[in-house]
Amino acid sequence: MHPNPITEAPSSTFDVLRAREDFPAIHQEVHGKPLVYLDSAATSLKPRAVIDAVVEVYAKDCANIHRAVHLLSQRATFRYEEARKKVQAFLNAEKKSEIIFTRGTTEAINLVAQSFGESALREGDEVLVTELEHHSNIVPWQMLCQRTGAKLVVVPMTDRGEVLRESFEEKLSDRTKIVALTHVSNALGTVLPVPELIALAHERGAVVLLDGAQAVSHVEVDVRALDCDFYAFSGHKLYGPTGIGVLYGKERLLEGMPPYQGGGDMIRSVTFEETIYNDLPYKFEAGTPNIAGAIGLGAAVDYYCSFDRESVHAHESQVLRYATDALESLPGVRLIGTAPGKVATLSFLMDAAHPHDIGTIVDAEGVAIRTGHHCAQPVMEHFGIAATARASLGMYNTTDDIDALVRALEKVRELFG
Ligand code: ALA
Repeated sequence: MHPNPITEAPSSTFDVLRAREDFPAIHQEVHGKPLVYLDSAATSLKPRAVIDAVVEVYAKDCANIHRAVHLLSQRATFRYEEARKKVQAFLNAEKKSEIIFTRGTTEAINLVAQSFGESALREGDEVLVTELEHHSNIVPWQMLCQRTGAKLVVVPMTDRGEVLRESFEEKLSDRTKIVALTHVSNALGTVLPVPELIALAHERGAVVLLDGAQAVSHVEVDVRALDCDFYAFSGHKLYGPTGIGVLYGKERLLEGMPPYQGGGDMIRSVTFEETIYNDLPYKFEAGTPNIAGAIGLGAAVDYYCSFDRESVHAHESQVLRYATDALESLPGVRLIGTAPGKVATLSFLMDAAHPHDIGTIVDAEGVAIRTGHHCAQPVMEHFGIAATARASLGMYNTTDDIDALVRALEKVRELFG
């Protein structure tokens, strides 16, 4: 058992072998080889505590929330709202009402684009994104621009995959109304200098949304210290369930935004003439939500916060450094994305083989990586490529996993070289 984050301070050393015991999926063979899971940027494995929390909801507290006086409903409601408080504490949001449960990062961004964006943008206004964005932080803004006549402006990245302050400043203008930035790039692992970019955007009066899908499990996130206006993340990349995510928004902004979807729970009263909307955060949670997912996410936050996060991040950095050195010393391997301070993700190419062939061969050796454009085609376009192979880390990865990847890549070279 891990210490309770409320009552016991986490140990300042991270015992990766002990943590691995918490993740049942690691301990299996694929194609007759021990699984080496290097695809946590796509989704992280789940610890037993999260799996148990979800099972318990369906096995015991299986009821709808906010709707009935019976005990099961009260228990489910309590656990759902406790999960919201855990997320609030995790992000250091000022108020519980600033935490909205969504299906994931994508839905959170779409919510802001539709609800905030449509009321805030006029023809000729600008929405600023970077060249590093995931499609989910491009397409909703493109759609919004089409509807409003606003313009999508793109801050370029360097060949190392960085976004420089000067390039950002150059693209900011008094027409910039919304700035939507990835906190950490999913394709390259770059950490954007978000505190200074947010400050610059605010000087121009723009509202800033951060896509934190790849950040929450690898860097500290404090929405008040960052002073971002919106922060979006997904549970499943934080060791939680799929289908659940979070939109944090400053209360002042959320209060002024119209509902994103209509339905049950988001209303205070309904007649055919008029509907009065519910208070925050329920105004943005129409319909029966993913109750078990939210409770599972609460368990994931508890699990993750039971460790000293600095030690977890330091462990991941050490494995990333080891992996970077190992791949750089392999003949015919080229790393894509070499920004200083990057986290958890290694995209690469091999002279010998196409990324999809790399993915297939290493899978046969038990090593799971992602190949393709990683839903970040503009990043691929920057480098003049269609795809990369990508190894990405979770807290449970070790340098042994990297050795297994290297052995599998040597197999690729033997077969294709
Ligand atoms: N956005 C996820 C990834 O980068 C799915 O793989």
